[in-house]
Amino acid sequence: MVERVGVQDPAWTAVDSYIGERLLGDDPALAATLAANAAGGLPDIDVSPAQGRMLRLLARMSGARRILEVGTLGGYSTIELARALPADGELVTLEIDPHHADVARANIAAAGFADRVTVITGSALDVLPTLEGPFDFVFIDADKQSNAAYVDHAIRLSRPGTTIIVDNVIREGQLIHADSPDGRVQGTRKLFDAISANPRLTATAVQTVGVKKWDGFLLAIVD
Ligand code: SAH
Ligand code: DHB
Ligand code: MG
Repeated sequence: MVERVGVQDPAWTAVDSYIGERLLGDDPALAATLAANAAGGLPDIDVSPAQGRMLRLLARMSGARRILEVGTLGGYSTIELARALPADGELVTLEIDPHHADVARANIAAAGFADRVTVITGSALDVLPTLEGPFDFVFIDADKQSNAAYVDHAIRLSRPGTTIIVDNVIREGQLIHADSPDGRVQGTRKLFDAISANPRLTATAVQTVGVKKWDGFLLAIVD
């Protein structure tokens, strides 16, 4: 087996730059978000610019009016998803770290979405049972150990046709190592087992490379 953990191919970064120049353009709100995250000492683990745009497009394609996000960080993906909402839409995002949540609230307000976005501080496993559905679109991007539980909640909070996206499911290929000691890998493998056993879900996973190295998204729709 060829291992590629830690590889950041310069070609992946160059292609992401090309995509950014041709298709994404300057984005002052997202640039300000990343600057505020760095100033606040938040880790640099937001989705990439191209991935964020993809999330916005997927949410828009799904016609989402209510979006749920698990794992806010500084609100980079939140802002992209909020951009897909109609003016009377709503986004609820969950964040365990109070400092991350504070930085996110400021970034989201500066981007003009304070009226549509609610950042709830708390452990997602505590907060999810208090939420009421249905949500049209769910983006899961928090601690990977709990991914299967988050998808169970997403299904409970869904309607037929709800889209569920999970970030970071490939982990530089570590996903396929059944004996991995990494709890994040084991959490993602449990997620795949749960999804494959659930007849209500039609799912796939798509591998990605770019500035965030080799990773990928799981996409599912609730029937
Ligand atoms: N979606 C963000 C990145 C999220 S990073 C973006 O792309 O911009 C993962 C976030 O999940 C971190 O901020 C972390 O504090 C949060 N997190 C980790 N465990 C959590 C839990 N149990 N409940 C809620 N949030 C959690
Ligand atoms: C990590 C978490 C993420 O959501 C991500 O996109 C990349 C890395 C992490 O916990 O290491
Ligand atoms: Mg992620």
